[in-house]
Amino acid sequence: MKRDPYANNLQVRPDGTLRHFLSIEGLDQALLTRVLDTAESFDAASQKNVRKLPLLRGKTVLNLFFEPSTRTRTTFDLAARRLSADVVNLDINASSAVKGESLLDTLRTLEAMRSDLFVIRHPQAGAAEFFARHVPEGVAVLNAGDGRHAHPTQAMLDLFTIRRHRPDLENLVVVIVGDVAHSRVARSQIQVLNLFGVRQVRVVGPATLIPSGVEQMGVHLYSSLDDAMVDADVVIGLRLQKERMRGPLLTSSEEYYQRYGITAKRLTLARPECLVMHPGPMNRGIEIDSEVADGPQSTVLEQVRNGLAVRMAIMALTMGAGPGLATESGQ
Ligand code: NCD
Repeated sequence: MKRDPYANNLQVRPDGTLRHFLSIEGLDQALLTRVLDTAESFDAASQKNVRKLPLLRGKTVLNLFFEPSTRTRTTFDLAARRLSADVVNLDINASSAVKGESLLDTLRTLEAMRSDLFVIRHPQAGAAEFFARHVPEGVAVLNAGDGRHAHPTQAMLDLFTIRRHRPDLENLVVVIVGDVAHSRVARSQIQVLNLFGVRQVRVVGPATLIPSGVEQMGVHLYSSLDDAMVDADVVIGLRLQKERMRGPLLTSSEEYYQRYGITAKRLTLARPECLVMHPGPMNRGIEIDSEVADGPQSTVLEQVRNGLAVRMAIMALTMGAGPGLATESGQ
């Protein structure tokens, strides 16, 4: 696999614990398994109606979104509150390209607010890593999506969802369909699925939306979704990232749906229990049929719910509060 230019050892402390969460690359399976297991314990606590844990009491979390988001922002916000942190949400209009210098200025201003944890979403690849390089010791940075580079918490909640249904990851064939070229989600998913030894990751989509040399990421490239669906255990639809497309890369939505839409008919080509996933937001009738999106094999809403537990886990671990400390606060 090609080296990720934004991944480095910033993410892990010398004692092997998680410091920042910027990309899947640079993290190992043991550490990421700890994230999943911690998330399981948080999810179990919320099943038992434990609404709040005191792990981040006295800490301030700053949600910094330079791009729109519903699910990701809300679940990060809720995750921080469930851990008893104080949360500040900042939506920043990034319509004018933000350059390194001004990002640093923003960071310094925000630092003056003495936050302990920054959650950042930004249209520029490498923005979260840039923050991580400049924050003081003890402050953590979590990447909530940077350009088309990475969206590691989404990949972790997807893996968490898959593992829940199919712990036999080594047997699974996973199909990723759609706009891989512009998808930070796909990039992080491919990395994590390969790291966890999934049997085969297949990628399929219009040639204009598949990055050249995608096979070097450890995937099998298909040109037909029907072919890719054969024996699939999981199919993941991606959103067409129109805001990142330069020029007409798509002929028409109708043609896209005909060739790459996840339909009930296509699902019959896969294994009987094949999971249907999508990070959202979905374009119904283009990327996926409503019948499938709302059907029994869909995990779309479960993914959102799991995002809460996974983000709580990542926040707690970067703040040095592991599952052993996950005691109930009685609130
Ligand atoms: C993804 C994102 O923003 O990268 N969505 C999400 O996090 N829920 C995927 C997308 O926007 O297509």
